[in-house]
Amino acid sequence: TRQSHIRNFSIVAHIDHGKSTISDRILEATHTVTEREMQNQLLDTMDLERERGITIKMNAVEVHYKANDGETYIFHLVDTPGHVDFSYEVSRSLAAADGAILVVDAAQGVEAQTLANVYLALENDLEILPLINKIDLPAADPEAVRAEIEDVIGIDASEAVLASAKQGIGIPELLEQIVAKIPAPEGDLDAPLQALIFDSAYDSYKGVILTVRVKEGVMQPGDKIRFMNSGAEYEITEVGVNSPHPVKRDFLMAGDIGYVAASIKNIRDARPGDTITSVKNPAAEALPGYQPMTPMVYSGLYPTDNSKYNDLREALEKLQLNDASLEFEPETSQALGFGFRTGFLGLLHMDVVQERLEREFDMELITTAPSVTYHAYTTDGEMVEVANPSELPEASAIKWIEEPYVHAQIMVPNEYVGAVMELAQQKRGEFDTMDYLDQNRVNVKYYIPLSEIIFDFFDKLKSNTRGYASLDYEISGYRQSDLVKIDILLNGDKVDALSFIVHKDFAQERSRIITAKLKQIIPRRNFEIPVQAAIGSKIVSRSTIKAYRKDVTSKIHTGDPDRRAKLLDKQKRGKKRMKAVGTVDVPQEAFMAVLKAE
Ligand code: GTP
Repeated sequence: TRQSHIRNFSIVAHIDHGKSTISDRILEATHTVTEREMQNQLLDTMDLERERGITIKMNAVEVHYKANDGETYIFHLVDTPGHVDFSYEVSRSLAAADGAILVVDAAQGVEAQTLANVYLALENDLEILPLINKIDLPAADPEAVRAEIEDVIGIDASEAVLASAKQGIGIPELLEQIVAKIPAPEGDLDAPLQALIFDSAYDSYKGVILTVRVKEGVMQPGDKIRFMNSGAEYEITEVGVNSPHPVKRDFLMAGDIGYVAASIKNIRDARPGDTITSVKNPAAEALPGYQPMTPMVYSGLYPTDNSKYNDLREALEKLQLNDASLEFEPETSQALGFGFRTGFLGLLHMDVVQERLEREFDMELITTAPSVTYHAYTTDGEMVEVANPSELPEASAIKWIEEPYVHAQIMVPNEYVGAVMELAQQKRGEFDTMDYLDQNRVNVKYYIPLSEIIFDFFDKLKSNTRGYASLDYEISGYRQSDLVKIDILLNGDKVDALSFIVHKDFAQERSRIITAKLKQIIPRRNFEIPVQAAIGSKIVSRSTIKAYRKDVTSKIHTGDPDRRAKLLDKQKRGKKRMKAVGTVDVPQEAFMAVLKAE
Protein backbone atom coordinates (compact mmCIF):
# COMPACT_ATOMS: atom_id res chain seq x y z
CA THR A 1 0.00 0.00 0.00
CA ARG A 2 0.98 3.63 -0.25
CA GLN A 3 1.06 3.98 3.54
CA SER A 4 3.59 1.16 3.97
CA HIS A 5 5.91 3.09 1.64
CA ILE A 6 5.92 6.29 3.70
CA ARG A 7 8.75 7.18 6.10
CA ASN A 8 8.46 10.27 8.33
CA PHE A 9 11.60 11.40 10.09
CA SER A 10 13.34 14.39 11.49
CA ILE A 11 17.04 15.12 11.53
CA VAL A 12 18.38 16.28 14.86
CA ALA A 13 21.84 17.15 16.16
CA HIS A 14 23.93 19.49 18.23
CA ILE A 15 24.52 22.79 16.46
CA ASP A 16 26.88 22.57 13.46
CA HIS A 17 27.17 18.78 13.44
CA GLY A 18 25.84 18.81 9.88
CA LYS A 19 22.06 18.31 9.79
CA SER A 20 21.42 20.77 6.99
CA THR A 21 24.25 19.35 4.89
CA ILE A 22 22.86 15.82 5.33
CA SER A 23 19.46 17.12 4.15
CA ASP A 24 21.15 18.64 1.09
CA ARG A 25 22.69 15.28 0.23
CA ILE A 26 19.34 13.51 0.62
CA LEU A 27 17.66 16.03 -1.71
CA GLU A 28 20.41 15.45 -4.27
CA ALA A 29 20.53 11.68 -3.99
CA THR A 30 16.77 11.49 -4.51
CA HIS A 31 16.85 13.95 -7.43
CA THR A 32 14.40 16.22 -5.63
CA VAL A 33 16.22 19.25 -6.92
CA THR A 34 18.09 19.64 -10.17
CA GLU A 35 21.82 20.25 -10.12
CA ARG A 36 21.16 23.81 -11.23
CA GLU A 37 18.83 24.45 -8.28
CA MET A 38 21.15 22.89 -5.75
CA GLN A 39 22.87 25.18 -3.28
CA ASN A 40 24.29 24.60 0.17
CA GLN A 41 21.84 24.40 3.11
CA LEU A 42 18.99 24.46 0.62
CA LEU A 43 16.32 24.10 3.27
CA ASP A 44 17.52 27.15 5.14
CA THR A 45 15.27 29.33 3.03
CA MET A 46 15.39 32.50 5.10
CA ASP A 47 18.09 35.04 4.21
CA LEU A 48 18.89 35.33 7.87
CA GLU A 49 19.60 31.60 8.09
CA ARG A 50 21.91 31.69 5.12
CA GLU A 51 23.78 34.77 6.31
CA ARG A 52 24.35 33.37 9.76
CA GLY A 53 24.84 29.78 8.68
CA ILE A 54 22.31 28.48 11.17
CA THR A 55 18.91 26.88 10.93
CA ILE A 56 16.19 28.86 12.68
CA LYS A 57 13.05 27.25 11.30
CA MET A 58 12.18 23.63 10.76
CA ASN A 59 11.41 22.67 7.18
CA ALA A 60 9.36 19.69 6.04
CA VAL A 61 9.92 18.31 2.55
CA GLU A 62 8.80 15.27 0.59
CA VAL A 63 11.31 13.27 -1.44
CA HIS A 64 10.92 10.05 -3.41
CA TYR A 65 13.51 7.33 -3.07
CA LYS A 66 13.89 4.27 -5.24
CA ALA A 67 15.31 1.66 -2.88
CA ASN A 68 17.47 -1.39 -3.56
CA ASP A 69 14.34 -3.56 -3.26
CA GLY A 70 13.06 -1.90 -6.44
CA GLU A 71 10.22 -0.08 -4.65
CA THR A 72 9.79 3.68 -4.48
CA TYR A 73 9.38 5.16 -1.00
CA ILE A 74 7.97 8.53 0.04
CA PHE A 75 10.15 10.25 2.63
CA HIS A 76 8.93 13.23 4.63
CA LEU A 77 12.04 14.80 6.04
CA VAL A 78 12.03 17.53 8.66
CA ASP A 79 15.25 19.48 9.10
CA THR A 80 15.43 21.17 12.51
CA PRO A 81 17.56 23.87 14.18
CA GLY A 82 20.33 22.89 16.60
CA HIS A 83 20.59 25.98 18.83
CA VAL A 84 18.92 25.79 22.27
CA ASP A 85 16.87 28.90 21.57
CA PHE A 86 15.00 27.06 18.85
CA SER A 87 14.38 23.77 20.63
CA TYR A 88 10.62 24.33 20.43
CA GLU A 89 10.92 23.85 16.67
CA VAL A 90 12.62 20.53 17.33
CA SER A 91 10.02 19.28 19.77
CA ARG A 92 7.13 20.21 17.48
CA SER A 93 8.71 18.50 14.50
CA LEU A 94 9.42 15.35 16.50
CA ALA A 95 5.73 15.05 17.37
CA ALA A 96 5.07 14.73 13.64
CA ALA A 97 7.71 12.09 12.90
CA ASP A 98 8.08 8.34 13.39
CA GLY A 99 11.86 8.34 13.51
CA ALA A 100 14.85 10.60 14.03
CA ILE A 101 18.26 10.62 12.42
CA LEU A 102 20.70 11.62 15.10
CA VAL A 103 23.73 13.28 13.55
CA VAL A 104 26.91 13.28 15.65
CA ASP A 105 30.15 14.96 14.60
CA ALA A 106 32.97 12.38 14.38
CA ALA A 107 35.51 14.83 15.75
CA GLN A 108 33.43 16.31 18.56
CA GLY A 109 31.31 13.44 19.74
CA VAL A 110 28.19 13.71 21.88
CA GLU A 111 27.52 17.31 22.92
CA ALA A 112 24.98 18.92 25.22
CA GLN A 113 22.24 19.38 22.59
CA THR A 114 22.86 15.90 21.19
CA LEU A 115 21.62 14.57 24.51
CA ALA A 116 18.81 17.10 24.85
CA ASN A 117 17.49 16.21 21.39
CA VAL A 118 17.75 12.48 22.04
CA TYR A 119 15.60 12.89 25.13
CA LEU A 120 13.00 14.76 23.08
CA ALA A 121 13.02 11.97 20.47
CA LEU A 122 12.66 9.31 23.16
CA GLU A 123 9.74 11.18 24.74
CA ASN A 124 8.01 10.92 21.39
CA ASP A 125 8.78 7.19 21.13
CA LEU A 126 10.78 7.64 17.96
CA GLU A 127 13.10 5.14 16.38
CA ILE A 128 16.57 6.74 16.52
CA LEU A 129 19.09 6.13 13.74
CA PRO A 130 22.55 7.35 14.78
CA LEU A 131 24.80 8.72 12.05
CA ILE A 132 28.42 9.71 12.58
CA ASN A 133 29.23 12.62 10.28
CA LYS A 134 32.38 14.43 9.17
CA ILE A 135 34.52 11.28 9.06
CA ASP A 136 36.67 13.14 6.51
CA LEU A 137 38.05 15.45 9.21
CA PRO A 138 41.63 14.70 10.29
CA ALA A 139 40.51 14.77 13.93
CA ALA A 140 37.63 12.33 13.29
CA ASP A 141 37.52 9.31 15.56
CA PRO A 142 34.35 7.47 14.50
CA GLU A 143 34.94 4.40 16.66
CA ALA A 144 35.38 6.47 19.81
CA VAL A 145 32.21 8.39 18.96
CA ARG A 146 30.36 5.15 18.35
CA ALA A 147 31.36 3.98 21.83
CA GLU A 148 30.36 7.33 23.28
CA ILE A 149 26.89 7.16 21.69
CA GLU A 150 26.41 3.76 23.29
CA ASP A 151 27.79 4.73 26.72
CA VAL A 152 26.42 8.22 27.12
CA ILE A 153 23.14 7.98 25.23
CA GLY A 154 22.56 4.27 25.72
CA ILE A 155 21.39 3.39 22.21
CA ASP A 156 22.81 0.72 19.93
CA ALA A 157 25.29 2.35 17.56
CA SER A 158 26.82 -0.81 16.08
CA GLU A 159 25.15 -0.05 12.74
CA ALA A 160 25.54 3.72 12.86
CA VAL A 161 26.22 5.04 9.36
CA LEU A 162 29.71 6.51 9.00
CA ALA A 163 29.27 9.54 6.77
CA SER A 164 30.80 12.63 5.34
CA ALA A 165 27.99 14.86 4.23
CA LYS A 166 30.59 17.11 2.69
CA GLN A 167 32.05 14.39 0.48
CA GLY A 168 28.79 12.50 -0.01
CA ILE A 169 30.02 9.39 1.82
CA GLY A 170 27.49 7.15 3.56
CA ILE A 171 24.36 8.63 2.01
CA PRO A 172 23.23 5.49 0.08
CA GLU A 173 23.57 3.49 3.28
CA LEU A 174 21.57 6.07 5.24
CA LEU A 175 18.73 5.98 2.69
CA GLU A 176 18.53 2.18 2.93
CA GLN A 177 18.53 2.32 6.73
CA ILE A 178 15.66 4.80 6.67
CA VAL A 179 13.59 2.34 4.63
CA ALA A 180 14.55 -0.65 6.76
CA LYS A 181 14.52 0.81 10.26
CA ILE A 182 12.08 3.68 10.48
CA PRO A 183 8.57 2.29 10.89
CA ALA A 184 5.90 3.12 8.29
CA PRO A 185 3.16 5.35 9.74
CA GLU A 186 -0.04 3.85 11.09
CA GLY A 187 -3.50 5.33 10.93
CA ASP A 188 -6.84 4.39 9.45
CA LEU A 189 -7.88 6.07 6.21
CA ASP A 190 -11.55 5.47 6.99
CA ALA A 191 -11.38 6.87 10.53
CA PRO A 192 -12.57 10.42 11.35
CA LEU A 193 -9.91 12.97 10.35
CA GLN A 194 -7.26 13.92 12.92
CA ALA A 195 -4.38 16.09 11.70
CA LEU A 196 -1.85 17.72 14.01
CA ILE A 197 -0.77 21.26 13.13
CA PHE A 198 2.93 21.52 13.84
CA ASP A 199 3.88 24.68 11.99
CA SER A 200 2.33 27.58 10.12
CA ALA A 201 3.11 30.61 8.03
CA TYR A 202 1.21 33.54 6.60
CA ASP A 203 0.69 34.01 2.89
CA SER A 204 -1.07 37.16 1.74
CA TYR A 205 -2.90 35.31 -1.07
CA LYS A 206 -3.71 31.96 0.49
CA GLY A 207 -4.06 33.07 4.11
CA VAL A 208 -2.58 30.98 6.91
CA ILE A 209 -0.76 27.93 5.57
CA LEU A 210 -0.56 25.06 8.02
CA THR A 211 1.97 22.24 8.09
CA VAL A 212 0.27 19.10 9.35
CA ARG A 213 0.81 15.47 10.11
CA VAL A 214 -2.30 13.51 9.27
CA LYS A 215 -2.77 10.85 11.95
CA GLU A 216 -6.16 9.42 10.92
CA GLY A 217 -8.44 9.79 7.91
CA VAL A 218 -8.08 11.78 4.69
CA MET A 219 -8.37 15.48 3.82
CA GLN A 220 -8.93 17.09 0.43
CA PRO A 221 -9.92 20.43 -1.12
CA GLY A 222 -13.61 21.15 -0.62
CA ASP A 223 -13.78 19.37 2.76
CA LYS A 224 -15.26 21.32 5.64
CA ILE A 225 -12.82 21.23 8.55
CA ARG A 226 -12.98 22.21 12.21
CA PHE A 227 -10.11 23.20 14.52
CA MET A 228 -10.83 21.20 17.65
CA ASN A 229 -9.37 23.65 20.19
CA SER A 230 -10.38 26.98 18.65
CA GLY A 231 -13.69 25.66 17.27
CA ALA A 232 -13.24 27.61 14.04
CA GLU A 233 -14.54 26.07 10.79
CA TYR A 234 -13.24 26.50 7.24
CA GLU A 235 -13.29 24.85 3.85
CA ILE A 236 -10.03 23.45 2.49
CA THR A 237 -8.89 25.29 -0.62
CA GLU A 238 -5.63 23.46 -1.24
CA VAL A 239 -3.47 20.64 0.07
CA GLY A 240 0.03 19.71 -0.98
CA VAL A 241 3.62 18.98 -0.06
CA ASN A 242 6.86 20.91 -0.26
CA SER A 243 9.34 19.19 -2.50
CA PRO A 244 11.05 21.57 -1.71
CA HIS A 245 8.74 23.96 -3.62
CA PRO A 246 5.01 23.67 -2.98
CA VAL A 247 3.33 20.97 -5.09
CA LYS A 248 -0.49 20.67 -5.04
CA ARG A 249 -1.99 17.28 -4.26
CA ASP A 250 -5.49 15.84 -4.55
CA PHE A 251 -5.51 14.69 -0.93
CA LEU A 252 -3.42 14.08 2.20
CA MET A 253 -4.02 10.82 4.05
CA ALA A 254 -3.16 9.20 7.38
CA GLY A 255 0.63 9.05 7.54
CA ASP A 256 1.25 12.08 5.30
CA ILE A 257 3.04 15.28 6.21
CA GLY A 258 2.03 18.24 4.06
CA TYR A 259 0.44 21.65 3.95
CA VAL A 260 -3.17 22.81 4.09
CA ALA A 261 -4.67 26.16 3.08
CA ALA A 262 -8.27 27.17 3.81
CA SER A 263 -8.37 30.97 3.30
CA ILE A 264 -7.76 31.39 7.02
CA LYS A 265 -7.42 35.09 7.78
CA ASN A 266 -7.87 35.06 11.52
CA ILE A 267 -4.55 34.04 12.92
CA ARG A 268 -5.97 32.91 16.25
CA ASP A 269 -8.16 30.23 14.66
CA ALA A 270 -5.41 27.80 13.78
CA ARG A 271 -2.52 27.57 16.20
CA PRO A 272 0.24 24.96 16.08
CA GLY A 273 -0.69 22.15 18.43
CA ASP A 274 -4.38 22.25 17.44
CA THR A 275 -6.04 19.27 15.75
CA ILE A 276 -7.95 19.51 12.48
CA THR A 277 -10.98 17.26 12.09
CA SER A 278 -13.83 17.12 9.61
CA VAL A 279 -17.14 18.84 10.24
CA LYS A 280 -19.15 15.98 8.72
CA ASN A 281 -17.49 13.17 10.62
CA PRO A 282 -15.62 14.70 13.57
CA ALA A 283 -13.10 12.82 15.73
CA ALA A 284 -14.07 12.26 19.35
CA GLU A 285 -11.04 14.03 20.75
CA ALA A 286 -8.12 16.24 19.85
CA LEU A 287 -4.52 15.00 19.62
CA PRO A 288 -2.31 15.83 22.62
CA GLY A 289 -0.73 18.93 21.04
CA TYR A 290 2.25 20.57 22.70
CA GLN A 291 3.32 21.88 26.04
CA PRO A 292 3.36 25.65 25.64
CA MET A 293 6.83 27.14 25.86
CA THR A 294 7.68 29.46 28.72
CA PRO A 295 9.85 32.36 27.60
CA MET A 296 13.22 32.61 29.32
CA VAL A 297 13.71 36.32 28.81
CA TYR A 298 11.59 39.38 28.10
CA SER A 299 12.28 42.71 26.53
CA GLY A 300 10.24 45.68 25.38
CA LEU A 301 9.76 46.23 21.64
CA TYR A 302 8.88 49.79 20.63
CA PRO A 303 8.47 51.30 17.18
CA THR A 304 10.89 54.20 16.73
CA ASP A 305 7.92 56.01 15.20
CA ASN A 306 5.03 55.99 17.69
CA SER A 307 2.41 56.02 14.95
CA LYS A 308 3.56 52.53 13.90
CA TYR A 309 2.23 50.84 17.04
CA ASN A 310 -0.64 49.06 15.27
CA ASP A 311 1.65 47.96 12.46
CA LEU A 312 3.93 46.43 15.05
CA ARG A 313 1.03 44.52 16.62
CA GLU A 314 0.04 43.15 13.24
CA ALA A 315 3.63 42.22 12.42
CA LEU A 316 4.04 40.42 15.74
CA GLU A 317 0.81 38.48 15.17
CA LYS A 318 1.94 37.36 11.74
CA LEU A 319 5.40 36.49 12.93
CA GLN A 320 3.95 34.51 15.81
CA LEU A 321 2.31 32.25 13.26
CA ASN A 322 5.72 31.29 11.99
CA ASP A 323 7.34 31.35 15.41
CA ALA A 324 5.16 29.54 17.90
CA SER A 325 7.49 30.33 20.79
CA LEU A 326 7.01 34.09 20.49
CA GLU A 327 4.83 35.79 23.13
CA PHE A 328 3.87 39.41 23.55
CA GLU A 329 1.54 41.76 25.36
CA PRO A 330 1.10 45.52 25.25
CA GLU A 331 3.08 47.69 27.64
CA THR A 332 3.78 51.37 27.96
CA SER A 333 6.94 53.16 28.88
CA GLN A 334 7.17 56.78 29.96
CA ALA A 335 10.32 57.09 27.90
CA LEU A 336 9.39 55.07 24.83
CA GLY A 337 5.62 55.26 24.54
CA PHE A 338 3.47 52.30 23.45
CA GLY A 339 5.07 48.97 22.72
CA PHE A 340 5.03 45.30 23.62
CA ARG A 341 6.68 43.26 26.34
CA THR A 342 7.89 40.29 24.33
CA GLY A 343 9.03 36.88 25.54
CA PHE A 344 11.91 34.97 23.97
CA LEU A 345 13.70 31.68 24.49
CA GLY A 346 17.09 33.37 24.60
CA LEU A 347 19.13 36.26 23.24
CA LEU A 348 19.67 34.68 19.82
CA HIS A 349 15.91 34.26 19.52
CA MET A 350 15.45 37.90 20.53
CA ASP A 351 17.94 39.00 17.92
CA VAL A 352 16.28 36.91 15.23
CA VAL A 353 12.80 38.25 16.07
CA GLN A 354 13.99 41.84 15.90
CA GLU A 355 15.71 41.20 12.57
CA ARG A 356 12.72 39.41 11.09
CA LEU A 357 10.39 42.24 12.14
CA GLU A 358 12.68 44.70 10.45
CA ARG A 359 13.25 42.72 7.28
CA GLU A 360 9.99 40.93 6.70
CA PHE A 361 7.67 43.62 8.05
CA ASP A 362 9.70 46.74 7.49
CA MET A 363 9.56 47.85 11.12
CA GLU A 364 12.04 50.18 12.80
CA LEU A 365 12.40 49.15 16.40
CA ILE A 366 13.98 49.93 19.71
CA THR A 367 14.50 46.85 21.88
CA THR A 368 15.01 47.36 25.60
CA ALA A 369 17.45 45.35 27.69
CA PRO A 370 16.35 41.75 28.19
CA SER A 371 15.26 40.67 31.64
CA VAL A 372 14.22 37.40 33.25
CA THR A 373 11.00 37.21 35.30
CA TYR A 374 11.54 37.93 38.99
CA HIS A 375 9.12 37.08 41.77
CA ALA A 376 8.76 39.88 44.29
CA TYR A 377 7.06 38.97 47.57
CA THR A 378 5.50 42.11 49.01
CA THR A 379 4.80 43.14 52.58
CA ASP A 380 1.07 42.71 51.98
CA GLY A 381 1.62 39.03 51.29
CA GLU A 382 1.39 39.06 47.50
CA MET A 383 3.70 37.71 44.85
CA VAL A 384 4.28 40.05 41.91
CA GLU A 385 5.75 38.68 38.69
CA VAL A 386 8.18 41.22 37.33
CA ALA A 387 9.24 40.80 33.70
CA ASN A 388 9.94 44.50 33.31
CA PRO A 389 12.49 45.80 35.84
CA SER A 390 10.88 49.23 36.03
CA GLU A 391 7.79 47.57 37.50
CA LEU A 392 9.56 46.18 40.54
CA PRO A 393 7.69 47.51 43.62
CA GLU A 394 9.42 49.99 45.96
CA ALA A 395 12.15 48.39 48.05
CA SER A 396 10.24 49.24 51.23
CA ALA A 397 7.24 47.24 50.00
CA ILE A 398 9.26 44.11 49.26
CA LYS A 399 9.92 41.33 51.74
CA TRP A 400 12.12 39.30 49.45
CA ILE A 401 12.79 38.62 45.75
CA GLU A 402 13.28 35.32 43.99
CA GLU A 403 14.91 34.73 40.62
CA PRO A 404 14.80 31.79 38.20
CA TYR A 405 17.64 29.26 38.29
CA VAL A 406 18.57 26.76 35.64
CA HIS A 407 20.10 23.33 35.88
CA ALA A 408 22.98 23.58 33.43
CA GLN A 409 25.00 20.77 31.97
CA ILE A 410 28.32 21.59 30.47
CA MET A 411 30.28 19.01 28.48
CA VAL A 412 33.95 19.75 28.31
CA PRO A 413 37.38 18.10 27.94
CA ASN A 414 39.10 17.32 31.27
CA GLU A 415 41.71 20.01 31.04
CA TYR A 416 39.07 22.76 31.06
CA VAL A 417 37.07 21.61 34.06
CA GLY A 418 38.87 24.11 36.27
CA ALA A 419 38.07 26.98 33.93
CA VAL A 420 34.41 25.98 33.75
CA MET A 421 34.07 25.76 37.52
CA GLU A 422 35.73 29.09 38.03
CA LEU A 423 33.33 30.73 35.61
CA ALA A 424 30.29 29.02 37.12
CA GLN A 425 31.29 30.23 40.62
CA GLN A 426 31.78 33.77 39.38
CA LYS A 427 28.27 33.61 37.96
CA ARG A 428 26.83 32.65 41.36
CA GLY A 429 26.55 28.97 40.37
CA GLU A 430 26.06 26.13 42.81
CA PHE A 431 27.88 22.92 41.96
CA ASP A 432 25.70 19.85 41.49
CA THR A 433 27.60 16.86 40.04
CA MET A 434 30.34 15.86 37.65
CA ASP A 435 30.36 12.67 35.54
CA TYR A 436 33.03 11.31 33.25
CA LEU A 437 31.74 10.72 29.72
CA ASP A 438 34.96 8.89 28.82
CA GLN A 439 38.64 9.27 29.78
CA ASN A 440 38.85 12.72 28.23
CA ARG A 441 35.54 14.42 28.74
CA VAL A 442 33.37 15.40 31.65
CA ASN A 443 29.76 16.47 32.11
CA VAL A 444 29.68 19.16 34.79
CA LYS A 445 26.33 20.16 36.25
CA TYR A 446 25.56 23.38 38.06
CA TYR A 447 22.59 25.37 39.29
CA ILE A 448 23.05 28.92 37.97
CA PRO A 449 20.79 31.99 37.95
CA LEU A 450 19.12 32.23 34.54
CA SER A 451 20.00 35.92 34.29
CA GLU A 452 23.70 35.08 34.44
CA ILE A 453 23.35 32.34 31.81
CA ILE A 454 21.48 34.61 29.46
CA PHE A 455 23.88 37.49 29.59
CA ASP A 456 27.36 36.46 28.63
CA PHE A 457 27.85 33.03 30.14
CA PHE A 458 27.95 31.18 26.85
CA ASP A 459 30.47 33.52 25.20
CA LYS A 460 32.69 33.38 28.27
CA LEU A 461 32.35 29.60 28.44
CA LYS A 462 33.40 29.30 24.81
CA SER A 463 36.39 31.59 25.17
CA ASN A 464 37.56 30.05 28.46
CA THR A 465 37.51 26.56 26.93
CA ARG A 466 38.78 27.43 23.44
CA GLY A 467 35.38 26.58 22.03
CA TYR A 468 35.36 23.02 23.38
CA ALA A 469 32.51 23.31 25.88
CA SER A 470 28.87 22.79 25.03
CA LEU A 471 25.98 23.89 27.19
CA ASP A 472 22.37 22.90 27.70
CA TYR A 473 20.01 24.05 30.43
CA GLU A 474 16.48 23.90 31.73
CA ILE A 475 14.68 25.95 34.35
CA SER A 476 15.00 24.29 37.76
CA GLY A 477 12.94 26.70 39.88
CA TYR A 478 13.02 29.98 41.80
CA ARG A 479 15.40 30.86 44.61
CA GLN A 480 15.65 33.83 46.91
CA SER A 481 18.43 36.26 46.00
CA ASP A 482 19.77 39.55 47.21
CA LEU A 483 18.70 41.71 44.28
CA VAL A 484 18.33 45.43 43.70
CA LYS A 485 16.91 47.59 40.96
CA ILE A 486 19.14 50.18 39.38
CA ASP A 487 17.51 53.17 37.71
CA ILE A 488 19.23 55.33 35.13
CA LEU A 489 18.67 59.09 35.01
CA LEU A 490 19.50 61.13 31.94
CA ASN A 491 19.64 64.84 32.49
CA GLY A 492 17.99 64.28 35.85
CA ASP A 493 15.02 62.30 34.49
CA LYS A 494 14.54 58.63 35.21
CA VAL A 495 14.37 56.61 31.97
CA ASP A 496 12.19 53.63 32.87
CA ALA A 497 13.28 51.62 29.84
CA LEU A 498 16.89 51.63 31.09
CA SER A 499 16.22 50.20 34.57
CA PHE A 500 17.67 46.79 35.37
CA ILE A 501 17.85 44.35 38.25
CA VAL A 502 21.14 43.02 39.52
CA HIS A 503 22.64 41.12 42.43
CA LYS A 504 23.71 43.43 45.28
CA ASP A 505 27.33 42.28 45.06
CA PHE A 506 27.56 43.49 41.46
CA ALA A 507 25.42 46.62 41.83
CA GLN A 508 28.20 49.15 42.41
CA GLU A 509 30.46 47.89 39.67
CA ARG A 510 27.70 47.51 37.09
CA SER A 511 26.44 51.02 37.83
CA ARG A 512 29.87 52.45 37.30
CA ILE A 513 30.42 50.60 34.04
CA ILE A 514 27.00 51.41 32.68
CA THR A 515 27.22 55.13 33.32
CA ALA A 516 30.62 55.13 31.65
CA LYS A 517 29.23 53.16 28.68
CA LEU A 518 26.23 55.44 28.24
CA LYS A 519 28.55 58.40 28.22
CA GLN A 520 30.26 56.89 25.17
CA ILE A 521 27.08 55.86 23.41
CA ILE A 522 24.72 58.80 23.83
CA PRO A 523 25.35 61.58 21.32
CA ARG A 524 26.43 64.95 22.68
CA ARG A 525 24.11 67.92 22.64
CA ASN A 526 24.85 71.61 23.00
CA PHE A 527 24.30 71.27 26.76
CA GLU A 528 25.82 69.01 29.38
CA ILE A 529 23.97 65.74 30.11
CA PRO A 530 24.51 64.09 33.48
CA VAL A 531 24.14 60.28 33.45
CA GLN A 532 23.33 58.85 36.86
CA ALA A 533 22.67 55.40 38.28
CA ALA A 534 20.47 55.24 41.35
CA ILE A 535 19.25 52.65 43.82
CA GLY A 536 16.04 54.09 45.18
CA SER A 537 16.80 57.76 45.76
CA LYS A 538 20.49 57.18 46.27
CA ILE A 539 22.81 58.04 43.37
CA VAL A 540 25.48 55.33 43.21
CA SER A 541 27.38 56.37 40.13
CA ARG A 542 27.61 59.30 37.74
CA SER A 543 29.23 60.45 34.51
CA THR A 544 28.74 63.50 32.35
CA ILE A 545 28.30 63.83 28.63
CA LYS A 546 30.06 67.07 27.77
CA ALA A 547 28.37 69.69 25.64
CA TYR A 548 29.87 70.04 22.17
CA ARG A 549 31.39 73.33 21.26
CA LYS A 550 31.83 73.18 17.53
CA ASP A 551 29.20 72.33 14.99
CA VAL A 552 30.18 68.73 14.21
CA THR A 553 28.31 68.69 10.93
CA SER A 554 30.72 71.27 9.53
CA LYS A 555 33.36 68.53 9.55
CA ILE A 556 31.41 66.62 6.99
CA HIS A 557 31.72 69.36 4.44
CA THR A 558 35.48 69.61 4.67
CA GLY A 559 36.33 65.93 4.26
CA ASP A 560 36.95 64.17 0.98
CA PRO A 561 33.78 62.99 -0.82
CA ASP A 562 34.30 59.34 0.06
CA ARG A 563 34.61 60.01 3.73
CA ARG A 564 31.68 62.38 3.58
CA ALA A 565 29.44 59.74 2.03
CA LYS A 566 30.49 57.25 4.69
CA LEU A 567 29.80 59.69 7.48
CA LEU A 568 26.40 60.59 6.11
CA ASP A 569 25.54 56.94 5.67
CA LYS A 570 26.62 56.17 9.21
CA GLN A 571 24.54 59.04 10.50
CA LYS A 572 21.53 57.82 8.58
CA ARG A 573 21.82 54.32 9.93
CA GLY A 574 22.50 55.58 13.41
CA LYS A 575 19.46 57.79 13.25
CA LYS A 576 17.20 54.94 12.31
CA ARG A 577 17.57 53.29 15.67
CA MET A 578 17.37 56.30 17.90
CA LYS A 579 14.65 57.45 20.23
CA ALA A 580 14.24 60.94 21.66
CA VAL A 581 13.77 60.62 25.41
CA GLY A 582 13.01 64.07 26.77
CA THR A 583 15.82 66.25 25.53
CA VAL A 584 18.24 63.37 24.97
CA ASP A 585 18.58 61.11 21.92
CA VAL A 586 19.04 57.55 23.05
CA PRO A 587 20.40 55.09 20.45
CA GLN A 588 19.44 51.40 20.39
CA GLU A 589 22.90 50.46 21.60
CA ALA A 590 22.30 52.22 24.91
CA PHE A 591 19.49 49.83 25.82
CA MET A 592 21.80 46.87 25.32
CA ALA A 593 24.65 48.40 27.31
CA VAL A 594 23.67 46.45 30.43
CA LEU A 595 24.49 43.26 28.58
CA LYS A 596 28.06 44.33 28.20
CA ALA A 597 28.50 45.69 31.69
CA GLU A 598 31.79 43.97 32.51
P1 GTP B 1 22.49 24.21 12.51
O1 GTP B 1 21.35 24.04 11.58
O2 GTP B 1 22.90 25.63 12.62
O3 GTP B 1 22.26 23.58 13.80
O4 GTP B 1 23.76 23.44 11.85
P2 GTP B 1 23.72 22.05 11.11
O5 GTP B 1 23.78 20.94 12.08
O6 GTP B 1 22.60 22.03 10.13
O7 GTP B 1 25.10 22.04 10.35
P3 GTP B 1 25.40 22.41 8.85
O8 GTP B 1 24.88 21.36 7.92
O9 GTP B 1 25.02 23.82 8.61
O10 GTP B 1 26.97 22.23 8.87
C1 GTP B 1 27.81 22.95 9.73
C2 GTP B 1 29.19 23.08 9.11
O11 GTP B 1 29.82 21.80 9.03
C3 GTP B 1 29.16 23.63 7.71
O12 GTP B 1 30.25 24.49 7.57
C4 GTP B 1 29.33 22.41 6.83
O13 GTP B 1 29.94 22.69 5.61
C5 GTP B 1 30.22 21.53 7.70
N1 GTP B 1 30.04 20.10 7.41
C6 GTP B 1 28.89 19.42 7.31
N2 GTP B 1 29.11 18.12 7.04
C7 GTP B 1 30.45 17.97 6.96
C8 GTP B 1 31.32 16.85 6.71
O14 GTP B 1 30.92 15.71 6.48
N3 GTP B 1 32.65 17.10 6.74
C9 GTP B 1 33.17 18.33 6.99
N4 GTP B 1 34.48 18.46 6.99
N5 GTP B 1 32.38 19.40 7.22
C10 GTP B 1 31.04 19.22 7.21
